[in-house]
Amino acid sequence: MENPILIVEKLNVVARRKGAAHKILDSVSLQVGEGEIAGLVGESGSGKSMLGSAIAGLLPRGCEAESGQVLWRGQNLIGASEDALSSLRGSQIAYVFQEPMTALNPTLRVGRQLVDVIKRHAQPDAAAAKALALGLLANVRIETPQEVFEAWPHQLSGGMRQRVLIAMAFSCKPALIVADEPTTALDVTVQAQVLSLLLTLARERGTAVLLISHDIGVIRRASETMYVMYAGRIVERGRTAAVLDAPRHPYTRALLDGLPGRLQPKARLNALRPGGPASSGCAFRSRCASAFDRCGEVPPLPTQPPAGAAACWLSQPINVEGESA
Ligand SMILES: Nc1ncnc2c1ncn2[C@@H]1O[C@H](COP(=O)(O)OP(=O)(O)OP(=O)(O)O)[C@@H](O)[C@H]1O
Ligand SMILES: [Mg+2]
Repeated sequence: MENPILIVEKLNVVARRKGAAHKILDSVSLQVGEGEIAGLVGESGSGKSMLGSAIAGLLPRGCEAESGQVLWRGQNLIGASEDALSSLRGSQIAYVFQEPMTALNPTLRVGRQLVDVIKRHAQPDAAAAKALALGLLANVRIETPQEVFEAWPHQLSGGMRQRVLIAMAFSCKPALIVADEPTTALDVTVQAQVLSLLLTLARERGTAVLLISHDIGVIRRASETMYVMYAGRIVERGRTAAVLDAPRHPYTRALLDGLPGRLQPKARLNALRPGGPASSGCAFRSRCASAFDRCGEVPPLPTQPPAGAAACWLSQPINVEGESA
C-alpha cells in the first residue's frame, strides 16, 4: 500500500476477568490507506469492535493492549497519553457507533452537542461553530437543519440520530472514520440510505473508512479491501472483489456459502458447522471440513505478498516463516 495512514501491527489485546487474562485480539495486523474504504467482517464475538476501539485507545475497562502497535501516520498509539489520544480522536480519527442513542447525550440538545465538538476541535468561536453545525446537518441531507439543531436526541428517529452522528464524525475533517456497524440498528431502507450517505461523504472528502460489518453485501458494495476476522485473528485479507470471488480461507468460504440468497442452494447453508472456536491451533479447525494434523499449529497470515492472503495451511505451502519456499 502506498500511503497507509493506519498500520496495526501484531496487536494483542487481553481482557482480564477475575485475575485471568483472556486473549481478545491475537496478533492482528491491518493497514488502511489514505482515503481507502476497508471492510472488516466476521461473526459476532470475533473481535471487530475490539479492534475498532483499540485503534484509538477506546478499549473497554479491563481490556488492554498487551503488545503490538497501532501506528497512526507513524506514531504508535499504544501507550500514548489519554490527552494525545483524545486530541487525535477529535481531529483525525472519528467513530460512528452502532447505537446512535448511546453515542448521543440524552440530556443535551443535538445542536449543543454538535457545537461542543466543533468548538473543541475545529472552531472555538460559538457563532461560527453554530453556522458550521447547521451546514453539517444540511450536508448529511437533513432537510430541516434548524429544527434538528434544536431537538433533543429522543425526538429524532434512529436514522436521523445516525445522520447527526455522521455529521459529528465529519465535523473535524478526520482522515479516518471507524464505522462500527453504523446502520444495524436501523430498518433496511434507512440502513441503505445512511450507509450510502456516509460513503458518499467519505469519498467526496477523501476520508478513509474502516467499515465494520457482518453484512458481506455491504462490504462488497462499499469497500476496496477487506479483512475477515475469526476468534480474534485476521484469517484473510485482500482486495474485496478477489476475496469474495475466490476466498482462500475455509472460514471465508463458509461465510459466503452460508449467505442466504437465490443463488445459494439451500443445502449449502449448513456449510458453517456449528461449534465454537478451537482453543489451540487454528481456531477454525473445529468447524473446518478440511482440517488436518497441521492445523494443531496456528497458521500465520503471510505478510508477503501484501495483497491477498489467508491464515490457513492449505493456502500457503510456501512463504511460511522458518521454511524455505
Ligand atoms: N467489555 C468487555 N470486557 C471483556 N471482554 C469483552 C468486552 N466486550 C467484548 N468482550 C469480548 O471480546 C470478544 C470480541 O468482542 P467484540 O465486541 O469485539 O466482537 P464483535 O466482532 O464486534 O461482535 P458483534 O458482531 O456482535 O458486534 C468477545 O469474546 C467478547 O465477549
Ligand atoms: Mg461489534
